[in-house]
Amino acid sequence: MKFVTKLFLAVLLALLLFLVFRYAPGEIMDTRKGPSIKSTLASTYGEEEEDHMHTDKLLPDPLRHGQYPNNQSDLWIQISKEFIIRRLGYLDKRDGNNVSINLLSMQYEKKGHPPAIFLKIYDKYNQAVSCLSTSLELGSLKGRDTYVLYLIRSPPLMPDQTGSVSHVTISTNKQCLAESDSILIRIVEDKPPKYNFGICLHKAFENLSPKVIHDWVKLNMELGAEVIMLYLQMKAPQEVYNVLRPYIDKGRVEVLDWQLEPPLTSVDSYYYGQTGVISECIWENMHKVKYLGLNDADEFFVPLKHNNIPDMLRELETIEEARRAGSFIFTNALLRGSKALPIVTEALNSKSCDGLRVDSLPVYFKRSEYCLETGGQSVKMIVKPDAVFTAWGHLLLSYRSDKYLKEYIVPDTMGLSYHYRPGWNDYKGCTTPIKETRIIEKFFTNITHCSVL
Ligand SMILES: *[C@@H]1O[C@H](CO)[C@@H](O)[C@H](O)[C@H]1NC(C)=O
Ligand SMILES: *[C@@H]1O[C@H](CO)[C@@H](O)[C@H](O)[C@H]1NC(C)=O
Ligand SMILES: *[C@@H]1O[C@H](CO)[C@@H](O)[C@H](O)[C@H]1NC(C)=O
Repeated sequence: MKFVTKLFLAVLLALLLFLVFRYAPGEIMDTRKGPSIKSTLASTYGEEEEDHMHTDKLLPDPLRHGQYPNNQSDLWIQISKEFIIRRLGYLDKRDGNNVSINLLSMQYEKKGHPPAIFLKIYDKYNQAVSCLSTSLELGSLKGRDTYVLYLIRSPPLMPDQTGSVSHVTISTNKQCLAESDSILIRIVEDKPPKYNFGICLHKAFENLSPKVIHDWVKLNMELGAEVIMLYLQMKAPQEVYNVLRPYIDKGRVEVLDWQLEPPLTSVDSYYYGQTGVISECIWENMHKVKYLGLNDADEFFVPLKHNNIPDMLRELETIEEARRAGSFIFTNALLRGSKALPIVTEALNSKSCDGLRVDSLPVYFKRSEYCLETGGQSVKMIVKPDAVFTAWGHLLLSYRSDKYLKEYIVPDTMGLSYHYRPGWNDYKGCTTPIKETRIIEKFFTNITHCSVL
């Protein structure tokens, strides 16, 4: 071989090796892998930290959103088919005098109270620090859930127990024998949240249409949500992930495959264990988001006096009682009938919006009449995760009562929860006269990219 050819081949080989080492660990992500101690550390110290070793950045955390873990045992530990524990826990340092480890668990409601759980704490050197008993707090009202949330809580911990906690195992044995797989521990402490306002879709879904999800994400973003959390079942159609992918890549949407279903559990649960989804979303966002809205896929918090939700929240914070509240409660407004917003007609008549078709428009542009559903369990809320231990979709169940009031009822003139249930024409729950609303028109241009002059 000629020298030049040899040189060329050598350079080519070097380039190839460089590319392989540069990109391979990031691309060939084995999402089936269980949480290793390394990924435990990476996630304990939070995704915001930029000063990890270079290799840590490339480590996939199998529990992170958007990674689609496809193995239930990465997400849950099965004590029995009647009692499962989430494989992610929280070292709650919100109250420096009462630091504890908190785990989320789900119990088949018909089987009564779960068994006693013991907790073994490990530090970052993988050394066992202590074996502790725990208390269990029911985080659910009598509802339609078949499996209900229990918050598992350690007793208050000493500084030497929490100094460098990395993961825990659980056991039904007093001496912490027969330990489970490791459970990642995330630290929840008093630091400024990364985001001001986020939204949780407060049920786990499998079969929601990609269009409904996409329309929901778009309006919530325009309303001011910086980040949105969705809980989907692994078997959700690929098209759902396809519409979410651009938002996931930008860090605006996070998805977790929730997988609370047989064969892990003995029977199906209402929306895959809704009380678990709600608490998971609140704990996950405890010090990531200052205000967290809990909504269904056909609901939106709508400010009536402000251009977006963060502006409305800013004004609420000037009210003493609201400032002290752990949750903001909004009346449910039932959007009904089939009268589209006037801007839709204008847009269709305008020459500038060729691509616009009525059937592809989101439902929230096609209803302009509403009435209010007062009383009953229909209100929706934006919570301050910092205040919460457990919650249901309409109210806080347990919260930091030494620091917060339970709730502040937002006046109907300031904000409502708009509810667009499909096929809703004559809803009996309505107790107020029907009115017209055109608030949603102001988001039309940004969402449809059709500008009506
Ligand atoms: C799930 O993943 C874990 C960890 O990688 C593995 O040990 C286990 O066998 C897997 N379980 C199933 C049911 O695939
Ligand atoms: C710690 O906080 C929990 C949850 O609010 C409470 O039940 C418990 O009594 C507190 N313990 C102490 C020692 O303050
Ligand atoms: C539309 O989007 C632009 C650019 O992001 C933003 O400045 C504007 O406030 C939005 N309009 C409304 C009504 O939210």
